Amino acid sequence: MSAEIISGTEISKAIKEELKAEVAELAEKHGVVPGLVTILVGDDPASQSYVSAKNKTAHALGIHSEQVTLPAETSEEELLGLIDKYNKDDKINGILVQLPLPKHINEARVLYAIDPDKDVDGFHPVNVGKMMLGEKCFLPCTPHGILELLARSGVETSGKEVVVLGRSNIVGKPIANLMLQKRESGNATVTLCHTRTKDTDFHTRRADILIAAVGVPNLVKADQVKEGVVVIDVGVNRVGKTESGKAILAGDVEFESVKEKASKITPVPGGVGPMTITMLMKNTVQAARQAAGLE
Ligand code: GUN
Repeated sequence: MSAEIISGTEISKAIKEELKAEVAELAEKHGVVPGLVTILVGDDPASQSYVSAKNKTAHALGIHSEQVTLPAETSEEELLGLIDKYNKDDKINGILVQLPLPKHINEARVLYAIDPDKDVDGFHPVNVGKMMLGEKCFLPCTPHGILELLARSGVETSGKEVVVLGRSNIVGKPIANLMLQKRESGNATVTLCHTRTKDTDFHTRRADILIAAVGVPNLVKADQVKEGVVVIDVGVNRVGKTESGKAILAGDVEFESVKEKASKITPVPGGVGPMTITMLMKNTVQAARQAAGLE
């Protein structure tokens, strides 16, 4: 039996429709236009394409968006100065600094400089701490997108064995934390595997829900999962180029073989990726509502 495909493209389309209506209502009833600024340092092609997709989506939803691209040699002080400017700018509700940053810039210093009320990435320690405590905050976009994918495709998580592969600050650690909380798409028993895990296969084979976020193409094979598993593949690995120069992408999970065993699976592309951008828009709208005293 072949798995049901969880389409992030379709689910994010539905959420974007909801957001578009919410943005229109905010403008009409309250004169509020949510504003987002994206800041990219350097010319990494993958980062360029993510940032331009974020701005394009914002524009399509009626969100005011500004895109700042700085040369790779930009100093940390210059970047901090720019963040300070946007922290004080009332038109801007969300500030996103695209990661990774060039090596000479201290990433933590930059992320900590963003006003937590404008931290639509959910990377500031104030938001990370609130998330951990289950308080209202900006949830990091990729984990937030995974929760929505699970909820909107009818996956029960309560009491289930969730196995997460990868302990990054952006995905692995937050999604593991969110899925064990008392909340929708939570209440799971969570195991987080990483490079020092003794027997990862032992864990993946008993997972009811497997979330792979390691950045290794096709790492998880069919013999490492059990029949009926729900697979969320966060990997976006560039494995080659087409003749026209377009990147060929692969997930962390070997899709063709694993889909024959899974009950549900996200594809790459078209799975988690589109959700990350959509949740950034959701967070930006939330930031605008909060700034306007509407919640
Ligand atoms: N680089 C890869 N993923 C992300 C993300 O979610 N936010 C930012 N700012 N940079 C990233």
